[in-house]
Parts: sequence; C-alpha cells; structure tokens
Amino acid sequence: MKALFLVLTLTTAMSTSTAASAGGAAVDYPHGYRNWTHVKSLILEPGHPLYGAFGGLHHIYANDRAMKGYKSGKFPDGAVIVFDLLEVERGGNAIAEGPRKIVGVMQRDARRFRDTGGWGYEGFVQGDPKQRAVGDQAKAACHGCHAEQAAKTGYVFSAWRE
Ligand code: HEC
Repeated sequence: MKALFLVLTLTTAMSTSTAASAGGAAVDYPHGYRNWTHVKSLILEPGHPLYGAFGGLHHIYANDRAMKGYKSGKFPDGAVIVFDLLEVERGGNAIAEGPRKIVGVMQRDARRFRDTGGWGYEGFVQGDPKQRAVGDQAKAACHGCHAEQAAKTGYVFSAWRE
C-alpha cells in the first residue's frame, strides 16, 4: 500500500512537471510589444518594499485584447500585458531610461493557465526570449500577490486613463 502511494505520488509529480514543460503552459514571448498601447509608467525608488525585484523604471504595454479588458473590466483570452522594466540613470537633474532589466508578461488563457487564475506569468531576463526567470514558479513568485491584492480587477493592478 505504501509502495502504491509512492508510485502514485511520483506519477502525479512527473505528469505535473511534464505538463508545465511540454503541455503548452509556457508563456509566449510578446514579440512586437513596443508597438502596443502604452498604459502607464512608474519608477520604484530604493527604499520601496518591492525595490529588490522591481526597482527601476517600468512601462506597461497592452495588446488590443488586453485593451478590451482594461476598458470593460473583463480580460478575454489572448490578452497580453507587458511590464517592461529598465534601470534608471540619474544625472543633470534628469531621470533617464537605462538598460533593460526584465520583460514581465501576463498572458490570458483561462484554460492553459487555470492554475494561476487564467493568467500565465513569465519574466524574460533583459528581454531575451531564451532566458526565463519564472518558469513553473508563477504561482508563488507572481500570482500570489496579484491574486491577493488585485482580486477585484481581474488580477490586474494597473488601470487605463484617457
Ligand atoms: C508583491 C506583489 C507583486 C508580485 C510578487 C508581482 N507583481 Fe506584478 N505587479 C504588482 C503591482 C503593484 C503592479 C502594478 C504596477 C503599476 O501600476 O505600475 C504589477 C503589475 C504587473 C504587470 C502589468 C499588469 C498589471 O497587473 O498592472 C505585469 C505584466 C506583471 N505585474 C507581471 C508580474 C510577474 C511576471 C510577476 C512574477 C515574476 C509579478 N508580476 C509579481 C505587484 C506584484
């Protein structure tokens, strides 16, 4: 009985990890996002509690489907939102964009990403499609905070302004 339990547990663990890698649950790289709609920008300065992970200057971009979500409150499958995080360079009483740190992505697909509220989360280091920072850690690393603090707005924090 004990052995059967072990086998079942292992099989479950294995099929879960296979599903994450081969089952299509990986977030797509958001090619062309710099041509999408710019939603907003924000600078997180040293001293902010999220500075370690998200410090710097970020711009948020939304594709057409995500724009429908921002305006209606309901994000349809295919909606993609990008959190483009850059370093900050100060000098001459100006704050300028520095090198890219990471391209954070939320991709909406209620079926593929059902474990994380219908959103897939990924971070591409320095914007490199091959360097994934999140992988199968999306629940703990990303969705936990979005689910808890942005529950009333479909897990999306930012809002559209005219
Ligand atoms: C501790 C809370 C927290 C965690 C953890 C977190 N985020 Fe966010 N995220 C935020 C907040 C707050 C904003 C809104 C920023 C703004 O308004 O400029 C945001 C915005 C975003 C956006 C733009 C859409 C939106 O919700 O406004 C994306 C994309 C995003 N995060 C991806 C990620 C990814 C990928 C991870 C995991 C690596 C992650 N986030 C982890 C708090 C969090």
